Amino acid sequence: MNKRTLFLLSALLVLSLLTAACGSSGTNDKPAPANDAQTKTNSNQTNSADDNKTDTAKKSVEIFSWWTGAGEEAGLLGLIDLFNQKHPDIEVINAAVAGGAGTNAKAVLASRMQGGDPPGTFQVHGGAELNTGWVAAGKMESLNSLYESEGWMDKFPKDLIDMVSQDGTIYSVPVNIHRGNVIFYNKKIFDDNGLTPPGSFDEFFKVADALAAKGIIPLALGDKEPWTATMVFEDALLGVLGPNDYKKLFTGEIAFDDARVKDALEKTKRMFSYINEDHAARNWQDAAQLVANGQAAMNIMGDWAKGYFTTDLKLQPNVDFGWITTPDTGSSFMVITDTFGLPKGVKDADTVNEWLKVLGSVEGQDIFNPLKGSIPARVDADPGKYDVYGQSTITDFKQSSLTPSLAHGSAAPEGFLTQVNQVMTIFVTKGDVDQAAKSLKDAQVSSGIAK
Ligand code: GAL
Repeated sequence: MNKRTLFLLSALLVLSLLTAACGSSGTNDKPAPANDAQTKTNSNQTNSADDNKTDTAKKSVEIFSWWTGAGEEAGLLGLIDLFNQKHPDIEVINAAVAGGAGTNAKAVLASRMQGGDPPGTFQVHGGAELNTGWVAAGKMESLNSLYESEGWMDKFPKDLIDMVSQDGTIYSVPVNIHRGNVIFYNKKIFDDNGLTPPGSFDEFFKVADALAAKGIIPLALGDKEPWTATMVFEDALLGVLGPNDYKKLFTGEIAFDDARVKDALEKTKRMFSYINEDHAARNWQDAAQLVANGQAAMNIMGDWAKGYFTTDLKLQPNVDFGWITTPDTGSSFMVITDTFGLPKGVKDADTVNEWLKVLGSVEGQDIFNPLKGSIPARVDADPGKYDVYGQSTITDFKQSSLTPSLAHGSAAPEGFLTQVNQVMTIFVTKGDVDQAAKSLKDAQVSSGIAK
């Protein structure tokens, strides 16, 4: 082998390793972008940032999110299309980093923000993730004048504006509302076995026993990324404590070693006794797919799973799959809202503002949300654009007690969530309720939520 051949082979090896390292986080993800946001990789639709250097006249806006895989990116690409139609002169740089719930994106974002290289705009959950994170660090610009000039003050629910505000200053624009306390189920399995979707914990365990007796996996879980297990737990907390006391966990008024938290842990543990054996190897799409394929009966997931079912898998709501709220949470709505703001120090705030205007418009929200599985954040969007799931969720949102999701950053600071995810990773396999409650209480204290 001559030197040149050796060099070429080595280069190929490095390239294949890099491709593997940057690859998708699960079997169902479309391949992740070849690079992450640190290198400002673009989607297929956009030109590269390097090209941009040679064309100084071209303006650009960089959009940072974790919407790359199946069930995730169609809505974003729809919004980018709309933006391109309205602003053909502005190049969109789609700097998405693969990984559900921002598993990888949040770390990349943190290093960019700390390094003084903020993206033009980035996905951030309303509530603690925005306010105790980037706003408290002084990294975000006020958007009050944008809300005023766009006439948005009465176009978003007040509760939602509160989630993206601090002391009267508004810091981001919500594009959607996802619901986190949902069981999606395979309709055929339930019909064939004469089962009724469970509304309470008692009903859930009865149905799960009946399914298990027939050799059907009752509950699909994919906790390769631990936030999915945290979602099952947060929904159990909501079911056991109810909306008011659930919220007190994050003000420190109720401790995480409270007897009711232990009860929620017991119930979560019992739910985990019904999951697929290969749960640790699956991501959320892989778990949802078990339900879609009829290999498992139920999946507890946010309604981005609805987007995955209808947009990617072309399933019919109420025909191929059904849904019901997680046990004993029927009158509550676990809120997850994806928002985008304007970081301080961006290169071109004007193009970011143009993006935010599209994202906050009725037109933008009604393109994004039917694809994503979420409902519009705006109160004046067109329900006719939504399917039966979306329409019933729009109604439920207006009638329910709203609670912020822990697993998706709204309820508590990121430092606490990181520790909860670690506790749940161990809890899924060990199931030690007292140990988990103690670790959660310690985390509640060490992160400053409780004394
Ligand atoms: C959430 C996010 C959703 C969806 C989900 C799965 O945190 O709010 O829009 O992307 O993660 O990745």
